Amino acid sequence: MCGIVGGVAERNIVPILLEGLRRLEYRGYDSSGIALLDSDGQIQRLRSIGKIKSLDEKIQNHSGTFSGHIGIAHTRWATHGIPSENNAHPHICNNRVAVVHNGIIENYAELKIQQLAQGYRFTSETDTEVVAHAIHKALSELQDAEAERPITDNAYISNERRSSSRDDQNRLVRAVQLAVKQFKGAYALGVVAIDDPETLVVARKGSPLVIGIGIGEHFIASDVSALLPVTQNFIFLEEGDVAKIQRNHLEIYNHAGECIEREIKQSNLSANAVELGEHRHFMHKEIFEQPQAVIDTLEGRITQEHVLISAFGFQAEDVFKTIQQVQIIACGTSYHSGLVAKYWFEDIIGMSCQVEVASEYRYRNPVIIDNTLFVTISQSGETADTLAALQQIKGLKQHQNIPTLTICNVAESSLTRESDLTFLTHAGPEIGVASTKAFTTQLVALALLLTCLGKAKGLLSEKREITIVKGLQKLPGLVKNALAHEDQIMEIAKTFADKDNALFLGRGTMYPIAMEGALKLKEISYIHAEAYPAGELKHGPLALIDEHIPVVAIAPHDDLLEKLKSNLQEVNARGGQMIVFEDEKSNISSEPGFKVVKTTTNVGRITAPITFNIPLQLLSYHVALIKGTDVDQPRNLAKSVTVE
Ligand code: F6R
Repeated sequence: MCGIVGGVAERNIVPILLEGLRRLEYRGYDSSGIALLDSDGQIQRLRSIGKIKSLDEKIQNHSGTFSGHIGIAHTRWATHGIPSENNAHPHICNNRVAVVHNGIIENYAELKIQQLAQGYRFTSETDTEVVAHAIHKALSELQDAEAERPITDNAYISNERRSSSRDDQNRLVRAVQLAVKQFKGAYALGVVAIDDPETLVVARKGSPLVIGIGIGEHFIASDVSALLPVTQNFIFLEEGDVAKIQRNHLEIYNHAGECIEREIKQSNLSANAVELGEHRHFMHKEIFEQPQAVIDTLEGRITQEHVLISAFGFQAEDVFKTIQQVQIIACGTSYHSGLVAKYWFEDIIGMSCQVEVASEYRYRNPVIIDNTLFVTISQSGETADTLAALQQIKGLKQHQNIPTLTICNVAESSLTRESDLTFLTHAGPEIGVASTKAFTTQLVALALLLTCLGKAKGLLSEKREITIVKGLQKLPGLVKNALAHEDQIMEIAKTFADKDNALFLGRGTMYPIAMEGALKLKEISYIHAEAYPAGELKHGPLALIDEHIPVVAIAPHDDLLEKLKSNLQEVNARGGQMIVFEDEKSNISSEPGFKVVKTTTNVGRITAPITFNIPLQLLSYHVALIKGTDVDQPRNLAKSVTVE
């Protein structure tokens, strides 16, 4: 949800901000803007509706006059107020303060009433404008207080020196510290003001923010990918931090206002990890990166025959020994990976596993029993509902043994910081809004978790562990082979060109895979798609079947295949068009009404759902190409959902 970027440098900051915005566009893309302090120390702003390229064009039309050494920029995913130029960030108050914001100020309506009474004028429908006004008000009050302070002690200080006294220099950071005290909700803020044209101030609570350390220059962004072309060195701000950032100077204050040091961490991501290369879309690139993503996620976590429990942290073994059941919380695609794991946990190690979407879990009064492993799964590690569910459980933890584990793709994200244990999926940056390689690596992580829990609890034999490890070692090859069916899937995608609805069917672990296939199709091709466990068809959905509804079925050769075949015959008998993904042993013949793709060799219980998901990703991608939708940035969606 929204991306922010900013910087203070000797060079012109505009190209760096634009490139940063392009790299953050996956977070939101309905409008964007940049505010700079120009050579006279005045605020200049350009905003544009639509994608970053329209902002870029606007800047080009200024024939080089829009430039500066300090600035902030924003790409928006609308929460309060429609996508429009007026609602686009940065927001400015009285030509004195400019602000970019990611998050939501929940009490903005209340603050707005107060600020209107104080004489502030609103030009947008956003919650962010109250931030600009609150900082402006704090600046004015601090300035007045400075002016009123008796000057007896400092009578010898000339006027010129007084204007650069320490108070004056710190006014902006103090104003931000005062202002944020009023805000309820989540924010990552970047602020510049004419009071201090050398300084960029940032604040973070509930939304991510990193500081990029350059040589004689500093930058800020919502995530590291935005700044990789200018630095590899980052400070990840903590909850409640406020920082004063200048070209050669950095001060960070914690939530208590104490000046503190934060560790500088080096990113091992290369700048081109977030470039398209030979691919037309990030989604396509990320689908094809999956064999490597699996290799990277397994690396250092398994030996020839065993899974290393230490992959979940050095204290994981002791924690796992106490566990009686698992509760998984996640959203969207990550929720689907949890659903697959439920089948695995209960079937393979006989451990009870509950899975729930975070937005429901956090608002009910769930009963959670002692010795439950509370697992959150998230690509971004910033999903607001998942984070809130974790925080809710942490509140209960004083009285119960409920260790928390996050499976996440982003190191230093909010979820990883708040969990007792962390497992990082090494999928690399996922830029396409539709999650692909993150899902695959989450399933790998869950298979490793299953094995470690089973071992720690004595619920998994060594023989079974070896079988799982051998299966995981084959997985990169299986995924690669499944990807090789792209041409066949491109052909099948044509079936969907004139369709408005589709059904996805599966049984067992293939049911959540069907759900994931349906979600992918909906989100990037805008075709309405539903997933059903195939056995549920006759309880209602069969009424939908006719020649206008393609029915996608996932049919591995497993214990449920014969039952699935009967379900498919029920569909076929009613004129439905079947698209079946099978393995070499399933033997579903391509009779009239059936299009069958032999996706893979016969796969195991763990490797099957991961492998069968691959053709569904390719199918939704190619249907979206035919439909001409925006594959990487589908309408109304954003990558990292940091708001409710
Ligand atoms: C779908 C998709 C979303 C995310 C969901 C959770 O393709 O990407 O459904 O899976 O928003 O996001 P994370 O995993 O970042 O918590």
